[in-house]
Amino acid sequence: MDFSQVYLDTFELEDMDPESLARLGLPSTFNLLTDPFPFESSEAPAEGSHELAPFLPSTKLTILEACRLAELGPDDAILDIGCGDGRICAAAIQKHRVRLAVGLDYDQELITYAESCARQCGIAVLPELESKPSSTQAVRFECRDLDSPAAIAYLQQLVRDHGITAVFLFLCSEMEAKPHWRLFLRQFCLEEMGCRIVAMVIDKNDSLGTQPVRTGNGIWVYEQRR
Ligand SMILES: C[S@@+](CC[C@H](N)C(=O)[O-])C[C@H]1O[C@@H](n2cnc3c(N)ncnc32)[C@H](O)[C@@H]1O
Repeated sequence: MDFSQVYLDTFELEDMDPESLARLGLPSTFNLLTDPFPFESSEAPAEGSHELAPFLPSTKLTILEACRLAELGPDDAILDIGCGDGRICAAAIQKHRVRLAVGLDYDQELITYAESCARQCGIAVLPELESKPSSTQAVRFECRDLDSPAAIAYLQQLVRDHGITAVFLFLCSEMEAKPHWRLFLRQFCLEEMGCRIVAMVIDKNDSLGTQPVRTGNGIWVYEQRR
């Protein structure tokens, strides 16, 4: 099935009343979408919270635009940091034939749902990351809390071992404020590994401290100038 049929669009979900949403049998995290302004909520993440960004799936239009701006192709392997229901990974494989998509999120319910959606899209779901890069397109979803310096070490290994060429993420001030994220994104991914960084941005002040090479509606693509 085409990814656009498998995933409901964000605004369709946001417009639903909680009862209709419940009838769809989606993971409970989707109930958060009934908050119309999750990013503007006056409530900052609770003390000790590991939330890097609230759950808000990208619209299908944004995903298609982000993949296009990232200039994805069959030689690419992508990583989605905070993958939610896995829609970016699914689109990157289905529409751009990337060889590998890895989606990580700390919400187990979302990860299980992401796997089932990918299967509906006809995409192979890997039970584990293979050490030898696979020649056919596949996705791997993992439940992992990424809010710690130890998690960054895991991400660095993953980028190196699996030849990640593009990293997708929601760039929020919560992340920007953490030096280990800046180092990982800018110094490691962008400068050392030569990855593209595809940042979905809410606030124009969110940046990696360098100029994006391409921009779309709320999408900034960073790439080391060749
Ligand atoms: C704005 S949503 C983006 C979802 C998806 N990438 C998309 O564009 O549709 C942010 C995601 O980050 C996840 N997240 C937040 N904090 C996290 C953490 N500490 N570790 C892993 N995932 C996290 C949330 O569960 C949520 O699914």
